[in-house]
Amino acid sequence: MKKLFTSLAVLASVSVVQQASAFDKGDIIARVGAVNVNPNDSSSNINVGGSDLGIDVSVDDDTQLGLNFAYFLTDRVNLEVLAATPFTHDVDFGVTDPLGTGTQLGEVTHLPPTISINYYFNDPASAFQPYVGLGVNYTVFFDEEFTGANEAAGLDDLSLDDSFGLAAQLGLDYMLNDKWFLNGSIRYIDIDTEASFRLNGTKGEVRKIEIDPLVSMISVGYRF
Ligand code: NI
Repeated sequence: MKKLFTSLAVLASVSVVQQASAFDKGDIIARVGAVNVNPNDSSSNINVGGSDLGIDVSVDDDTQLGLNFAYFLTDRVNLEVLAATPFTHDVDFGVTDPLGTGTQLGEVTHLPPTISINYYFNDPASAFQPYVGLGVNYTVFFDEEFTGANEAAGLDDLSLDDSFGLAAQLGLDYMLNDKWFLNGSIRYIDIDTEASFRLNGTKGEVRKIEIDPLVSMISVGYRF
């Protein structure tokens, strides 16, 4: 009987130790969920052959499958990589149908991998584990294309420059048990690019496109 109590006491102390810390140095976590990229965009005007058309462009939002991995460098600090399936954004003229080709100018696809260092500041015993993070983003644009109507009007060769910028985030892990947790995060990413194209062979550009999105993610996480 005494042996049983001793075993129970050992078990209890083990589970207390396990609950005492949400994350530990050396932990690897993975999160999977939905991630939305919502631009706070602004741009300079479309310029063709040196003349300003007086029309800017806008970029709409998109939601994709988000994946997120982090490695704990200490009990409170992790290094995190945000990845996702490619985002496709409609690019619209800043005014309604200015060229008689519809309001949509085209679409672009991009991947915005982001690496962040995050700091957890709450009591490690709490189920609520908020964190703040700072990181860098590299956004690669591809499959840039004009709509059929704009191509028929003579627009082609659309290309957007890659972007390198800072990212900042706030997030919360809610521990369901020792392994599983829920996560919500919102981050700001500085994404700026420049577009080039041709209109009937004449070179055109939009020199400054600020996309600067809020990127929000809701996910389920697992601690390995
Ligand atoms: Ni910016």
